[in-house]
Amino acid sequence: MFSQLSCLILQAGYHVITTASKHNHDYLTSLGASKNFDYHDSDVVEQIKKEGKIQVIYDAISENGSIEKCMQVLQPHGGKMVAVLPVNATVPDNVKVYQCFGGSVHKTSVALGKWLFNDFLKEALIQETIVTAPPVKVAKGGLRGVPDALAMQKKGVSATKIIIHPCEDGCT
Ligand SMILES: NC(=O)c1ccc[n+]([C@@H]2O[C@H](COP(=O)([O-])OP(=O)(O)OC[C@H]3O[C@@H](n4cnc5c(N)ncnc54)[C@H](OP(=O)(O)O)[C@@H]3O)[C@@H](O)[C@H]2O)c1
Repeated sequence: MFSQLSCLILQAGYHVITTASKHNHDYLTSLGASKNFDYHDSDVVEQIKKEGKIQVIYDAISENGSIEKCMQVLQPHGGKMVAVLPVNATVPDNVKVYQCFGGSVHKTSVALGKWLFNDFLKEALIQETIVTAPPVKVAKGGLRGVPDALAMQKKGVSATKIIIHPCEDGCT
């Protein structure tokens, strides 16, 4: 789901359409999406292609066939796509794939990570130019709450991030 990126993408001036389950479409519209499609629909690729020439796709799933569907949406004109997992699919010559891994801010993009988390994000959250999305659900108990958090995740959540507060009981 594009919710975590929505503020950045919209501020960059992009016109955004998304895929999600139908029950999340109003929520995504509230975050600024112009149109939403249900990825469960067997003809979702054809539906999206009717919107016109899609130039950039951010594939926030990158598994279970989503990469292949993104490639189809970008045909025949080609375009760019960002994947959040390694891409094992065949990539057509007219598609440029970028990889986006959060962990890179600790390795190859350390300066970017410092700026993003220490400067930009701190200020943007105070100014509310970035909102936290999707909503979080807190599993109680600090680090001892991890099994409960995992159980909640395993049961299935939608448009929700489950978090713990590691120092809930105080950190030493
Ligand atoms: N690159 C990185 O640094 C990084 C970091 C964390 C995770 N990941 C990867 O990112 C992916 C998503 O992780 P997440 O934690 O964001 O999961 P998540 O919060 O559980 O979000 C998944 C949501 O995406 C929607 N969805 C599922 N399958 C879809 C599909 N085929 N097409 C469109 N939407 C689909 C579902 O929305 P509905 O509820 O509306 O159906 C689901 O709730 C995973 O593959 C994970 O391994 C990458």
